[in-house]
Amino acid sequence: MVKVAPSILSADFCNLERDIRRVSSADWLHVDVMDGMFVPNITIGVPVVRSIRKCTGMFLDVHLMIDKPARYIDDFCEAGADLISVHLEADHPTRIADALRAMEANGVKKAVALRPITSAKAVLPYIERLDMVLVMTVEPGFGGQKFMESQLDAIREVRAIINKYHPGCELEVDGGVVPGTSERVVEAGATVLVAGTAVYGAADPAAAIEALRQSQ
Ligand code: DX5
Ligand code: ZN
Repeated sequence: MVKVAPSILSADFCNLERDIRRVSSADWLHVDVMDGMFVPNITIGVPVVRSIRKCTGMFLDVHLMIDKPARYIDDFCEAGADLISVHLEADHPTRIADALRAMEANGVKKAVALRPITSAKAVLPYIERLDMVLVMTVEPGFGGQKFMESQLDAIREVRAIINKYHPGCELEVDGGVVPGTSERVVEAGATVLVAGTAVYGAADPAAAIEALRQSQ
């Protein structure tokens, strides 16, 4: 069964604790960090992650959509992240490697993320030391966008690379994952589904989580 990671980008930030409790049956909690540079939106930062850590024991899956993420790895680890994703487009390869080393030193799980334009092959230099690859199925920046069908091929390519070089690595898919697309995403090889609108837009978030978990 796949893991489901509700994205709090679709939560009510005035009632964040309540909205985190609403999704407590999920496997992970997905936290979207945006800096207004790597993506055109600004969301949450280190102090908010620290506060979230205090109010839940859920596994915190922190998706950094920020330029030069190596600068902030220690801070997000100290704030309580369990896993951090850095975008391969956000810095030079040597600095991406530095970011992964910092996660390792902090005992936090390591992931790289791919924008839709980035080739699956870009994960090859890192794959053996990763805990997860995140494939975006929308342009990062906003919740509620339409799933990019063309990214199913990218998911399949990353799945083939994982199977060949590091079968234990998770494959997370983020963007437009709803009933109707989730089945194809799982069929293409995903093991973790991020869902903002599909969970927080549902009348019964727990039922929506369970429905996504049954996707096949
Ligand atoms: C978009 C974020 C996503 C977003 C997904 O840049 O990375 O995590 O919250 O939202 P939905 O599920 O509504 O596409
Ligand atoms: Zn995300």
